[in-house]
Amino acid sequence: MNHPSAGVALVLVSSCVRGRGRVVAGDLLPRPRLAENLNSSHRVPGLRRNNAPHAPFVPPPFLGCLVLTRACSTLVSFLQEKRVVAQRPGISSTMGLDVKEKALLTFIAKVTFPLVVVMGPFVAYTRIWEYPFWFLGLITFAVLSTKALYYLVERLTRRRKDLPREYGKWAIVTGATSGIGEAFAHELAQRGMSILIISRTPAKLEKTKADILRNAPEGVEVEVLAFDFTCMPKADAFYLRLREVAASLHKRGGIGMLINNVGTNVEVPEFFHALPESEVLDIVRVNVEGTVRMTRTVLPFMADRRAGAIINVSSGSGNHPTPLLSTYAATKAFINEFSRSLHYEAKHVGIDVLVATPYYVSTPGMYNKPPGLLNCSSHRFVQDTLSVLGRYDSVYPYIAHAILGTLMDKYWATPAALFKSMNKTRMRALAKKQQQKEDSSSTQKAAYRPAA
Ligand SMILES: NC(=O)c1ccc[n+]([C@@H]2O[C@H](COP(=O)([O-])OP(=O)(O)OC[C@H]3O[C@@H](n4cnc5c(N)ncnc54)[C@H](OP(=O)(O)O)[C@@H]3O)[C@@H](O)[C@H]2O)c1
Repeated sequence: MNHPSAGVALVLVSSCVRGRGRVVAGDLLPRPRLAENLNSSHRVPGLRRNNAPHAPFVPPPFLGCLVLTRACSTLVSFLQEKRVVAQRPGISSTMGLDVKEKALLTFIAKVTFPLVVVMGPFVAYTRIWEYPFWFLGLITFAVLSTKALYYLVERLTRRRKDLPREYGKWAIVTGATSGIGEAFAHELAQRGMSILIISRTPAKLEKTKADILRNAPEGVEVEVLAFDFTCMPKADAFYLRLREVAASLHKRGGIGMLINNVGTNVEVPEFFHALPESEVLDIVRVNVEGTVRMTRTVLPFMADRRAGAIINVSSGSGNHPTPLLSTYAATKAFINEFSRSLHYEAKHVGIDVLVATPYYVSTPGMYNKPPGLLNCSSHRFVQDTLSVLGRYDSVYPYIAHAILGTLMDKYWATPAALFKSMNKTRMRALAKKQQQKEDSSSTQKAAYRPAA
């Protein structure tokens, strides 16, 4: 049962209890002064005179709101279904509501509920036992305020960990030549860890190694391994080689950290059926197989020392439907659940597992968009992730992403609205691609001068 229907059920049960058991419950409890001072000529809807022996049942004012809320969400799902049906040839649209209007309805439905739960009881009622819903409101309020308090205390008491001492000397970072992976490699080296960087392009690996060594403190070592995670024929040989390297690192100070960062996505959001199979499978291989096999190879060495940490870089899109990025979102959902399950397993052998779910991070993979309110820098993202390592199983490290993710997941975005917004992005990206194509062909034409 979801929240609104649970609420309605509770109110209905409370109404029954109220009708039958008011002497048992209601009369035993002290009544607030407001109720005692009421006289019959000043009735307030929802409040009754203190000692009216058989006051007729007045439906709680917010019961109507709740039923309406539930009806709204049901209507929204119904309309979404209708729309899907209506888009099929031969069946015409019925209700004519736009996606935006449905999204608005869902928003109203979902936001009204917590408001009604928290405020309704205060506004409408005075007697506790007759209204279990009052408790639900209080519990909601208590949970939210405890969470806010916990977050505040947690933020204020965060301490910077001595990573090599707590986890071990070496960190392994995949996808380390650019964006988030590169930022992890630099930050961990700054904090005194030696790094094994893994990526696709050997030249970029050498450049990253030189950059890290130039800025890192004395004693930090960097090693490189080149591997394309889409390349299935070479995969077994690579993981054998990785096991050998890991065994050597295990003897030279231990593997303290594994950052499974490598990930890939379609260039432009696209309908699943329109994508080439090879592209779909590459996403699965890099995101899922890469994460699982890297973890399988490295984890036994950490378990042997009963120390270590694994950070899996996922995505906010793995927490809710993301139409037109379906394979990517599904692989990230896999990483989320894989990591969260592993978190509780690995805890028993002294290993911290955390899945970090960003939305927009300013990286070459995200066209280097300048950092802004919703778009953090990779450095900031890495620092925020490391600061909560060991505390959670899953986290939106950047606060704006946490707010956005909660709104998207719990309140705001209907899958239909998400489809509409992703489709807009797709159209823009396709138009841009087309423009680039035209520009380059016109440049080529201009460069070509036929012999006189
Ligand atoms: N940036 C964001 O806004 C964002 C949002 C949500 C999730 N994420 C996730 O964060 C992670 C990093 O993203 P990013 O934006 O930092 O990426 P990026 O800037 O594009 O960097 C990707 C890195 O992975 C390597 N790589 C890509 N494909 C590879 C392959 N097949 N085999 C081996 N290495 C490969 C690249 O190596 P080369 O340089 O050699 O190509 C590069 O080092 C990904 O898992 C992504 O899904 C990012």
